[in-house]
Amino acid sequence: MATVRLDQKRRALVRRIPDSYTKALSKFFGSGPTDVEKAREQHLGYIQALERHGVTVHTLEADENHPDCMFVEDQAVVIDGYMLLPVPGHPSRMAEQPPIAEYLMGALEGVQTCDMGGEARMDGGDIIRLGDLFFVGRSTRTNDLGIASLRGLLDTLGYELRVIDIPDGALHLTSISSTPTDSTILVPEGFLHKDAFGDLPDGCEVHWMPEEEVYGCNTIGLPNGKVLMAQGYPTVQQKLVDLGLEVETLDMSEIRAADGSLTCCSIFY
Ligand code: GLY
Repeated sequence: MATVRLDQKRRALVRRIPDSYTKALSKFFGSGPTDVEKAREQHLGYIQALERHGVTVHTLEADENHPDCMFVEDQAVVIDGYMLLPVPGHPSRMAEQPPIAEYLMGALEGVQTCDMGGEARMDGGDIIRLGDLFFVGRSTRTNDLGIASLRGLLDTLGYELRVIDIPDGALHLTSISSTPTDSTILVPEGFLHKDAFGDLPDGCEVHWMPEEEVYGCNTIGLPNGKVLMAQGYPTVQQKLVDLGLEVETLDMSEIRAADGSLTCCSIFY
């Protein structure tokens, strides 16, 4: 996810990978990570790439009780001085949130927080932002009450929210799409209807990529025309180059093995 606009991507929060990472949830892209040291090397490469492109990165310690704790994106939704703290959609991930929320509340001066409650569920990984337009996935992790909670915040801010049903073969909306710029959506064939995103604002476009490059459709666009993406997805990479962007690819194999994409590993704030 990035729920901040491109020009707001100056700071990112990440979290170290615990030794227990081999027990991370995996059902979609991967059959489970096997090499924690390699995952840590790849994670360091990810952090260094963000820093190279001008992002200040703060790293939280890992929590051995939570194998998925490095996937911070799911735990907090930061939008224009507000922070929605979702109730994560998988029970094993619920207690990951407190240190993340505590850090962001300290770092974001004057931030207004909104808590989700009751039966509402949401993973931050189900949200993408295209300028002033937001999309949320209705998924195994995000339910209608969670979506209503997000809608309440976005109504306050004057932003439109559109809901996209995530098919069984995908975890999150960000598992199958991203917005490398404030006017571009990348999405693979074979997962969503052609009209899933609806009519877009002038100048915005959906680019459909080959189904087998689904993992490559998760990208991190940065303010200086740079984009980070996973290595090994040539059609997506060429599309980004054709759009005039400068692409850096990262080896994400051990992150992918736990169903994690690039955006899963950070919260921009
Ligand atoms: N392994 C990331 C997740 O399932 O939430």
